[in-house]
Amino acid sequence: MNIQHFDDDAALSAALATRVLEDIVAGPSLVLGLPTGRTPLGLYRELRERSGGDRVPWSQVRTFNLDEFAGLGASDPQSYRAFMQAELFDHVSIPPAHIGFLDGTAPNLEAECRRYERAIAAAGGIDLQILGIGASGHIGFNEPAERLCARTHVAELEQATRLANAQRFGGDWRKVPERALSMGMATILSARAIVLLATGREKTDAVRGTVEGMITTQLPASLLQLHSRVTVMVDREAWSG
Ligand code: F6R
Repeated sequence: MNIQHFDDDAALSAALATRVLEDIVAGPSLVLGLPTGRTPLGLYRELRERSGGDRVPWSQVRTFNLDEFAGLGASDPQSYRAFMQAELFDHVSIPPAHIGFLDGTAPNLEAECRRYERAIAAAGGIDLQILGIGASGHIGFNEPAERLCARTHVAELEQATRLANAQRFGGDWRKVPERALSMGMATILSARAIVLLATGREKTDAVRGTVEGMITTQLPASLLQLHSRVTVMVDREAWSG
């Protein structure tokens, strides 16, 4: 794993935005895998600010987000789709048809997961998968467990994960859906390159386990050690606690 150290979230976000924009200019039909959450907010701010006008050719870029809550769709303000529209998609010239997203309101969620895998394959696979990491070591909604799902699946959410998402639901974790749709570990590991972001003290243990620990399904991010092109971008707090 290639570890890149930054003083803080702002420096990390600026560096990753530079990489993403350079990748888009070098290959305009880039396929990006994207996370939601607190960690990528700085990245999306940088991408918005640096993409004004026609400065960046977003028109051929395709994106696939990692996950979505079951029961929520694009029109739900708490959905991850709404988050992405507000933070990025509404501000760059990416065609709506190029935005890949899991639909939490699909009548058959298992079929929706299979559709998503087919859509990623039809786009030629993901070139650059960007990930956040939970304090438990989860990526996407792949939570620590004895067994993990390989492909996009319906996940039961741990209470800790519902708590971590409560802010989007008026601060009440009980309002956070109990299930979500998520790319699986093999979906993530199939990306040609992966960047894992970690900022803040609460991520220190998860980061250490990810880069130095044994590979274990109890710390899903540790499976990233199996991939040959992973960059871990950390700020000082996430590295030193
Ligand atoms: C969200 C996702 C999650 C988050 C993780 C960290 O799409 O994939 O795995 O990356 O929960 O969340 P933050 O960044 O809010 O600490």
